[in-house]
Amino acid sequence: MEFRFNLNELFQEPCVEIGNTLIPPGFAGDKRALWDTQSKVTQIVNAIGEASAHAQGLTKPITTADRLRNSEHRLYLLIDQAANNGKGAVTGMLKTGEKGLYVFDREGQHYQVSPPCVLDFYIHESRQRTGFGRRLFEHMLEREQLEPNKMAIDRPSDKFLGFLNKHYGLNTPVKQMNNYVVFDGFFPKHAGTP
Ligand code: ACO
Repeated sequence: MEFRFNLNELFQEPCVEIGNTLIPPGFAGDKRALWDTQSKVTQIVNAIGEASAHAQGLTKPITTADRLRNSEHRLYLLIDQAANNGKGAVTGMLKTGEKGLYVFDREGQHYQVSPPCVLDFYIHESRQRTGFGRRLFEHMLEREQLEPNKMAIDRPSDKFLGFLNKHYGLNTPVKQMNNYVVFDGFFPKHAGTP
């Protein structure tokens, strides 16, 4: 996904984390530069959120700059710095955040938890199935110091379920009534369970 402006002037790394300030890491500049940066980040977040919704067949985007601004979510962007004649292109995004959930294990025992969740995940159509998704996901796991089976997934697509199976061996989803999915290893062990 290309933009008229130079992404390499906004982002210094190929994996960038954006939070509710909409300010990329390493930003330095005056108030005018700050507004300009936030306006560009707004355009990027809205465009990639729209593309993700389209790819998932959703009528409305899950990810918008406005929603990000009003949340504690983390949005990771993947940048191909060499694309678009050196101006860079956004090749994917991954959004995470904590949600208060009731979840049931296979035995029907329920838990009230606030786990880290995968809320939105998208790699540009031209780059899917070439390892970009894994790269971005690994970056997030490293940053958040997480094992994938400790995360809850909001309405995973079949592609994402395939991805989790292939890369992390997560293949027996425990589907929840709230449309989240968790995997074995998510639940705390009961007292007395070996
Ligand atoms: N059909 C089936 N499995 C797929 C497909 C596909 N079209 N695309 C990716 N996968 C799975 C497969 O397991 C694949 O391995 P394989 O090619 O050997 O079969 C594996 O993912 C490839 O791994 P990566 O290349 O690292 O993954 P990719 O860069 O394609 O990113 C992602 C995965 C984000 C799911 C991407 O395919 C995508 O954007 N899909 C469309 C949007 C989507 O479904 N997003 C997830 C929504 S659910 C949520 O956001 C919580």
